[in-house]
Amino acid sequence: MKILHCKEYGPVDNLVWEEIDSPALQDNEVLIDIKAAALNFPDFLIVQGLYQFKPDLPFAPGNEGAGIVRKTGKNVTRFKEGDRVYFMATHGAFAEQICINELGVFPIPDEISFQLAASYQMAYGTSYHALIQRGKLSENDEVLILGASGGVGLAAVDIAKAKGARVIAGVSTDEKAKICQDYGADEVIVYGTGPKDKEEARAFSTELKSKSIKNGYDIIYDPIGDCYAEPAFRAIGWKGKYLVVGFAAGQIPKLPINLTLLKGAAVVGVFWGAFTGREFEVNQKNITDINEMLATGKIKPLISKEVPMENAVEAIKLIGSRGVVGKVVLVN
Ligand SMILES: NC(=O)c1ccc[n+]([C@@H]2O[C@H](COP(=O)([O-])OP(=O)(O)OC[C@H]3O[C@@H](n4cnc5c(N)ncnc54)[C@H](OP(=O)(O)O)[C@@H]3O)[C@@H](O)[C@H]2O)c1
Repeated sequence: MKILHCKEYGPVDNLVWEEIDSPALQDNEVLIDIKAAALNFPDFLIVQGLYQFKPDLPFAPGNEGAGIVRKTGKNVTRFKEGDRVYFMATHGAFAEQICINELGVFPIPDEISFQLAASYQMAYGTSYHALIQRGKLSENDEVLILGASGGVGLAAVDIAKAKGARVIAGVSTDEKAKICQDYGADEVIVYGTGPKDKEEARAFSTELKSKSIKNGYDIIYDPIGDCYAEPAFRAIGWKGKYLVVGFAAGQIPKLPINLTLLKGAAVVGVFWGAFTGREFEVNQKNITDINEMLATGKIKPLISKEVPMENAVEAIKLIGSRGVVGKVVLVN
């Protein structure tokens, strides 16, 4: 089978396609023929050795996908050959096949395509957990979402609107703003791509405050960090919650801690991967609600591009160039 190997940590261009034997199946594992795999921000980081953990070399990036069960290990009870499934893995989805513990595998209904199944689990799972468990979202809330046209950002816009909140979407370009408006954002703010000096940061903060009709946001959803975080935090409302989701813009920001005191506000961490393991049943409920919202048309995950799997390297490079909108899906 073909697999996209990272043989040494470094630039994305160092990744190579190789032909290897099918992975050996363990007793608790399912061997899946991969039909589609989604691109996620960690794919860009993990191959450079910049992610939270470093898999043993060689490994393939890619942590979610969908396909057909080819074989099951002798202890597997939930799946059989031919089942349509999606899976979550630590890595290994950018390949033709993957072997994975059945706990990371879930059935997909016939009406859901492999591409769609692969595309929304991580983005919607993260944003649902962030907004509902960590942000305690209510329909009266006003939510500011940064990086709002990206994978987790657009999922946050979609979920917050489905739950009745007022949403202000922050993005770097007019094109991305248009996408957020199409997803129901009540207001958009275009913050550009460059670093912000003191004056620009102050103006950004003033603009963010001006879009709030409650004199500050109840929830700020931040997957980008860097120079955007402090000006955004300054626009938070009384008892607001600042959801720390990621640092796609580069640097992990520092906040003057007195800002939390002045607003009675909270900085709240979000770590969906850990949550799914530590709070399995709550996550199952989240998945059920997400799937119900999908089935009833309340949410609509955006697949902006379908790319042949063999072009995975070019696709991963889109992440680093701010080129991903909604989800990009690789197809075998
Ligand atoms: N905490 C968790 O559990 C969890 C789970 C999943 C993902 N994440 C994190 O969330 C972040 C977003 O992930 P994603 O999969 O949604 O990524 P994505 O689809 O590539 O979206 C990232 C967004 O970040 C913005 N951005 C700002 N500066 C950027 C830069 N220098 N390079 C690239 N993008 C930049 C872009 O929007 P603009 O151009 O509009 O600014 C882009 O839409 C990542 O840091 C990821 O690690 C965290």
